Amino acid sequence: MKITKCLFPAAGYGTRFLPATKAMPKEMLPILTKPLIQYGVEEAVEAGMDTMAIITGRGKRAIEDHFDISYELESQIKGTSKEPLLNEIRALINKCTFTYTRQREMKGLGDAILKGQALIGKEPFGVVLADDLCINHNGDGVLSQMIKLNDKYKCSIVAIMEVPKEETYKYGVIAGKEIEDGVYMVSDMVEKPEPSEAPSNLAIIGRYILTPDIFDAIKTTKPGKNGEIQITDALLALAKKGMVLAYKFKGERFDCGSVDGYVQATNHLYNLQNKKEKGKK
Ligand code: UTP
Repeated sequence: MKITKCLFPAAGYGTRFLPATKAMPKEMLPILTKPLIQYGVEEAVEAGMDTMAIITGRGKRAIEDHFDISYELESQIKGTSKEPLLNEIRALINKCTFTYTRQREMKGLGDAILKGQALIGKEPFGVVLADDLCINHNGDGVLSQMIKLNDKYKCSIVAIMEVPKEETYKYGVIAGKEIEDGVYMVSDMVEKPEPSEAPSNLAIIGRYILTPDIFDAIKTTKPGKNGEIQITDALLALAKKGMVLAYKFKGERFDCGSVDGYVQATNHLYNLQNKKEKGKK
């Protein structure tokens, strides 16, 4: 079954970016001239998806407006040199359907994903946490890579990367057996473990392919760390019943939910853009 839907949990408060995120969604922070969530939607489109299901919350209306026409602005710049600046976003709007629902209380990523059940239905789907910006200059984007793996194994998949052991407390961390190069069969998952309790240094980042049985698994998941419903707990339940894979993706990931990662991503893409401009001259 072709995966066409991608869920974007975007209801979080983004407290690490206050005061910028007081009235503006974290997902609308720009890296150069494009907001984070647009990079995520572009990655999903590259992977063949065309329906974007966005979980929003109070104060997130700018996301809906971004993926819509702005008549006044568009008529203002029509025919000027500025008009092409809207080409990419116009192409996305034309290609995709955007659906929205709100998470009323911040009860965790698992709860946010469950709120998307009505938008997703009974089919496998992608999940993008837009504050994780993933770039692969040498081939397929991360979601495309994961969809290929799902074609082969037909199960839920989490993207992972190696992190320094002292940073495991920031991530969900997996344990598992490597069944092919960079692909692990998950046997355990721990949310934000202290380094001494981490089962490995393989940390989950913000890209998932989920099968629809995840919704029932979330419904029976009790709140965990910080009283939030953790997606890792629900995935572990699926892993115990059947199979969940962890995939060491090819490419780079920037944690744009943190100031350091955000600045690194900005510098990275700025340098790249400058190199391209110089190449043209
Ligand atoms: P984060 O842990 O980055 O949380 O959530 P946050 O609240 O956005 O940011 P900080 O830590 O306060 O700075 C990871 C992703 O899960 C979404 C967030 O929007 C983000 O994309 N999320 C998290 C929800 O949609 N709902 C939740 O209840 C929690």
